Formats: sequence, C-alpha cells, structure tokens
Amino acid sequence: MSRKPPIKALVFDAYGTLFDVHSVIALCDELFPGRGAQLSQTWRAKQLEYTWLKSLMGRYEDFEKVTEAALKFACKSLKLNCQLESRKRLMQAYLHLKPYPEVKEALAALSHCKLAILSNGSPRMLKALVKNTGLSNTFDAVISVHEVKIFKPDPKVYALAQNKLKVPKNNIGFVSSNFWDICGAASFGLRTF
Ligand code: 2OP
Repeated sequence: MSRKPPIKALVFDAYGTLFDVHSVIALCDELFPGRGAQLSQTWRAKQLEYTWLKSLMGRYEDFEKVTEAALKFACKSLKLNCQLESRKRLMQAYLHLKPYPEVKEALAALSHCKLAILSNGSPRMLKALVKNTGLSNTFDAVISVHEVKIFKPDPKVYALAQNKLKVPKNNIGFVSSNFWDICGAASFGLRTF
C-alpha cells in the first residue's frame, strides 16, 4: 500500500466550514419574527446557485454583490419587505459570522502546518470576517477567488492555494463542509477532509 505524501498545509473553506453562515438567523428573526431560519436557508442556497451560474456563464461579480443579490431574491421570494436599512444590517452581519465552537482550538492544534483560508468570499469580506472573529494571526494566507475571477469548484481556484502557499498539491489538505467544494478540490488533486 503506497504511503500518502505528508500534509504540509491545511486549507480551509470559510463559509459553512470555519464560520456558521446561519449565525445570521438571530438578526433575520429579529427583523422578520418566525421567518429567520427560512430566510437564512433561502439566502444561502441562492447565493451558491448564483456563484455556479456566474462561473458557467463567465459573468463573475464579487461575492459581496452575489450575496446581496441573493438576499434581495430571498426577501422577495418569501414576501418579506426588506428595506435598504435592514439589508445593510444583514450584509453587515455577514462580516460577523460566528466561528464554529471547535474552530479556534482545532486551528491551534494544527498550527504545525501552514494554515490558509480559500474562499469565494471577496478580499474585503474575508479580511473583515477574520479580523472580527479574532483569527487575524492564525493564517499564513487568506485567499479569495477574486484573483482568478471565477468561483469554486473551478480548478483555477484550487490552483491558487498551491501557488500562493508554494506547496505541491499532494501535500495540501483541503477542509470543507460543502460537498461541491470537496468535489472540486479532489478533482484538482488536493487531499480532502
Ligand atoms: C466559501 O467560503 C462559499 O463556502 C464557500 O468559499
């Protein structure tokens, strides 16, 4: 049985893996009592659908614009009257998503590896989110797809991790909770978890 090459870098997906996108439910419920979970689910689903469509059509726009467009859709489709002020508060909440409870301890235990984020998030969103959650000094790199103007699971995204970290793909472990992200990373040749 051939030995697997050593993992020298661990690269993490952001939304849904390190940070709980549904931590916005509290605010959604405050604004639209009893509709919070439904709004958050519809919002996230449409956000991802838009990224896949835009990549396939070659019509990239940054994740902030896509996230706001998905929020507008979600409010309209659920017949929620979301004024600009509420929309701004919800978009601001996206910069303060909660890390999952085990994240800080897990990253500390893995600090012998190079650690990075690889995310659809725009550079501005990711910088703010990492800072607001006290994780600024945790990562060797915070990598946004914005540089290659296409979303996951396009292989150019995963190649960014290899090029930025200067670690061969078979020494990189990729961690995501999103199956389509894992498919893309594995297809490119990263070890996936
Ligand atoms: C990401 O952070 C959207 O979860 C996806 O790239």
